[in-house]
Amino acid sequence: MKHTIEMMISAEEINRKLDELAARINAHYQHTDKLLMVGLLKGSVVFMADLCRRINGHVEIDFMSVSSYGSTMTSSRDVKILKDVQSDIAGRDVLIVEDLIDSGNTLNKVREMLRLRDPKSLALCTLLDKPDRREVDVPVDFVGFTIPDEFVVGYGIDYAEQYRNLPYIARVIPQE
Ligand code: PRP
Ligand code: MN
Ligand code: MG
Repeated sequence: MKHTIEMMISAEEINRKLDELAARINAHYQHTDKLLMVGLLKGSVVFMADLCRRINGHVEIDFMSVSSYGSTMTSSRDVKILKDVQSDIAGRDVLIVEDLIDSGNTLNKVREMLRLRDPKSLALCTLLDKPDRREVDVPVDFVGFTIPDEFVVGYGIDYAEQYRNLPYIARVIPQE
């Protein structure tokens, strides 16, 4: 698709938001040792890198990769684990770190899968939330920006694998 991109959230705004998010997360986990942050590949990589450097104390990071597939005719999409976390999360305080919640299908399934492994606590942090697109309800504990239903890229988020390296968030504008 022929398109252009236009800046939507600047690198400075992202930085300020990360300071704010990290302050809330640090306060929430101040009595926790060994917080485990779990990012979903690939979109969360940039956000994870910047967020984890603002978290105090003993923090561990891990990643999982899931593929969401299924019929577009049904809302219940299947989520398959392509790469699991390496850590045993039983008894751990786990914070899932995601770049974007759209339909909610990915996070809903991942949350359920991790919940079954008996973490001590399980919370979710997303940089961007698009509530207008939600198909399944997912409780989100820490939200960076709530955005309208627009196609966005940058800061880890791709369009056909492009633009993950943009230091800011941009909207994609289709061209005639
Ligand atoms: C994108 C995004 C979220 C997910 C959100 O990932 O990074 O993980 O979609 O969509 P949902 O709420 O409708 O499930 P994608 O599957 O494109 O993989 P990527 O992170 O590797 O780009
Ligand atoms: Mn993703
Ligand atoms: Mg993607």
